[in-house]
Amino acid sequence: MSRFIIEGGTSLKGDIPISGSKNAALPLIAASLLVEETTLRNVPRITDVARMCEIIEYLGGSTAWKDEHTLQINTGNVRPKELPPAARTLRASILFAGPLLARFGEAELPYPGGDVIGARPIDSHLSAFEKLGVIAEEKETLKLNRKKTCGGKIVLEETSVTGTENLVMLASACTEETEIRLAAAEPHVQELCKFLQKAGVSISGIGTTTLHMSGPVTKKTVEHTVNPDELEISAFAALAAATHGEITLHPVDPQYLDAILLQLEKIHVNVTLKGDTIHIQPPQGAYQSHRLQAGLYPKLVTDHLPPLAVLATQAEGPTLVHDWLFEARQSYLRELIKMGANVMIMDPHRALVIGPTPLYGKEVVSYDIRSGMAMIIAALVARGTTTITGIEHIDRGYENLEERLKNIGANIERIDS
Ligand code: EPU
Repeated sequence: MSRFIIEGGTSLKGDIPISGSKNAALPLIAASLLVEETTLRNVPRITDVARMCEIIEYLGGSTAWKDEHTLQINTGNVRPKELPPAARTLRASILFAGPLLARFGEAELPYPGGDVIGARPIDSHLSAFEKLGVIAEEKETLKLNRKKTCGGKIVLEETSVTGTENLVMLASACTEETEIRLAAAEPHVQELCKFLQKAGVSISGIGTTTLHMSGPVTKKTVEHTVNPDELEISAFAALAAATHGEITLHPVDPQYLDAILLQLEKIHVNVTLKGDTIHIQPPQGAYQSHRLQAGLYPKLVTDHLPPLAVLATQAEGPTLVHDWLFEARQSYLRELIKMGANVMIMDPHRALVIGPTPLYGKEVVSYDIRSGMAMIIAALVARGTTTITGIEHIDRGYENLEERLKNIGANIERIDS
């Protein structure tokens, strides 16, 4: 079982390059089914991306890395068939449903898996599909058939990120206007909409909760650059602050960072944004507790909470960590308690982190991508040695993490056995 061994307490200084966003890259790879030739730049080399490429190839497409982060995808020869069972291991495989329905009028896939952080039903995807004429047969696999291609007004049952992404990909086949209300507006949804615009689809309202769009896709080739991962930015900022390091993060896209920067300021992190670069310096006083409450974008989204909760262990006073979306995302808080954090878990959605407390190296588990990153930050803060197992979750979302951390002075080793 692979694990990280981390010796905490070293002083951290230097630059951390920010990778392209995982949650933007995955729907963009799925959207490549809507055109023939796609070139995606700044794609992170992570296992979730590799699995999405495997699925494209299984369907008859081809994928090739033109350089370290430029991915070329050709889907000219794709034919509709049931997605492979491996799709079950990846929540984002649900994102193939929208483009397959748009292009072929049919899709069959296993129910998606992914992180165990909550129930995450796909009802909102299916009820929206239904309004665009899709009939779903839910048996061992999910069988979808599209009977008509018309637009209309759709109010999403939940402001679901992948639900909105699936819907805009399907609606790109509709020549009549589709109005999507209560749409998710996350950076990755916006990037996908921009990709569809490049493919010839007309879309207005990008970045808001109401989208108006009409297809069809008219272009055969699209090039797009994946935006810097805002989840890496908040995590590395929390890491720098919690370890009192002096760290530069580059590149960042400031248009997507309002809630993160505000949160860091409220905690009194010594942060400066200049152009597309963020500098974190050692604090000028004590960090202050400030409520960590997940919201729908443009508020602070749930995935930022675990790293910031580790920072809360080093802030003065009680921090309420409130994630109303996921009911099983607190595993990392239990691991933090093992390391000496003072955490009161109040219910599946709320906890109080009372700081400041020293952390101590222990054996802990990474249960999902973001809790894995939280464990790494805690280990770098802690006195002594921490062993983190379950690091395959971390590899799903962060490219070359140990190299990037070693470059700023972290004492981290990967043991593969
Ligand atoms: N939810 C509601 N009401 C809403 C919106 C959401 O109850 O109005 C609940 C859903 O029922 C679900 C949860 O909130 O249980 C998450 O909802 P969503 O459908 O938006 O999640 P998702 O599309 O499956 C994406 C990201 C997740 C991220 C969530 C929330 C991708 C591939 N995945 O998942 O990313 O946590 O949005 O922002 O984009 C991660 O990267 O670590 C990750 C888990």
